[in-house]
Amino acid sequence: MSRNKNRLVWTGAWPFDCALCAAHKDNCQISNDNPAARKNVAARLLAELQSGSLPFVSLDYASGLCEQLQGLCGRLEPFKHLLLLGIGGSALGARALQKAFYPQQDWPGHADAPNAKYLWVADNIDPESLPQWFDRLPAIQTLVVVISKSGGTIETMSQYFLAKNWLQSQLGPDWQRHMLLITDARKGFLREEADTLGLASLPVPENLGGRYSVLSAVGLLPAMFLGINWEELLAGAKELFAPLNLASTPDDMEKALSAHPAWNLAVWAALMQDKGFNELIYFTYVPKLAAFGAWFAQLWAESLGKDGKGSMPLPATGVTDQHSLQQMFLDGPNNKACLFISCPNLPDGSSFPTGLDARWEYLAGKSLRELLLAETLGSKMALSDRKIPLLELELALPDEFNTGKLISLLGLATIFTGWMMGINPQDQPAVELGKRLAKASLGADNLESEKEMLMKFRNIPEKIQEF
Ligand code: PA5
Repeated sequence: MSRNKNRLVWTGAWPFDCALCAAHKDNCQISNDNPAARKNVAARLLAELQSGSLPFVSLDYASGLCEQLQGLCGRLEPFKHLLLLGIGGSALGARALQKAFYPQQDWPGHADAPNAKYLWVADNIDPESLPQWFDRLPAIQTLVVVISKSGGTIETMSQYFLAKNWLQSQLGPDWQRHMLLITDARKGFLREEADTLGLASLPVPENLGGRYSVLSAVGLLPAMFLGINWEELLAGAKELFAPLNLASTPDDMEKALSAHPAWNLAVWAALMQDKGFNELIYFTYVPKLAAFGAWFAQLWAESLGKDGKGSMPLPATGVTDQHSLQQMFLDGPNNKACLFISCPNLPDGSSFPTGLDARWEYLAGKSLRELLLAETLGSKMALSDRKIPLLELELALPDEFNTGKLISLLGLATIFTGWMMGINPQDQPAVELGKRLAKASLGADNLESEKEMLMKFRNIPEKIQEF
């Protein structure tokens, strides 16, 4: 049963002409998707679901995970601090959930709240902040959670070595109770560590890469630690994927696909790229979901930036970035499409008092929500007026259930867009070279060609200006 109605709203329904107005009027490709592409995507989706290679959609790991998380609940309870070590898809989702559903950590007075929890996300190898956390966190009240799907990411592993050392020096033989690893179920260095040292661990399902893993233990364990309603996040995902998981023949799947918002969003996004809109603004007018901008940027960029193709994601937050990036959106190069995230049903917030100066009287009695919605409308109309193709994703409510749907919708639309582009949206081969070069420069073995590249690079003459 559908508990909420979210909506995709195309600018084609607006009284404005957008950059694609000719298409809108005569043969709107935004609503008439490409049947050949749909057939291919439906066949592939069915095959991947049947072979179990798309856990992001099948969620076949979910019931086992629920049991594991419920079983760990009591074990997490005594800890006040969770120090999360991870990077990219192993950190961005947890941070976005924290900012959306546990904002109180950043609010005044949190320290005095009964049972206050703290999530610290260490997703960089910052020589300044990591030692500070080790200096300031009470080890006895801290659980270190190391998240790495591959179990071999140099940044996360280096943090792990330091954190292990810190816990051992602070807690002696008890240190193991303060560490939990989330990694591949069978392979990788971190899995070996869990097995050898007898550390608590949770698996990341096979074929569930970092940026698609927020609704696995990767995002849900930190969410559970904070008391976020993680079951509802999963429930939203399940509902969004249900029609696709129910389809059992190519015909059924095609029908399910053509009615599915992830497909319609992907058709729009692929069309935008084909039409030369090589930047995609992700404009969030739901302030609590602002941190999902960084999560989406990673999802979109790492999944689709391949073979010289893709569109550059530009995360922006309304209204904040109306005073920052919006000028460029409106009056810079006309190469941007916009995914516009809104929600009419936000809480009212404070109301403005009466008796304001005459120039501000129109605000009296209105709520913060009304002001935000007026600015949402103004910004959307200004973007459309500048012929920026805009697809609005309107959430019924900014709660966990609908956020689960949002995460799932964006992830699946990204996969479909990648399939239509003829690239693999689930790998990220180009980023490997930089990592290998970094390791080579530190003297790691078996990287001879990288060491040669380094030598050549160091011999390239530089022009230098000191300042
Ligand atoms: O989305 C991805 O796959 C990547 O951003 C990874 O999350 C990131 O590289 C970290 O990898 P791992 O989880 O294997 O440490």
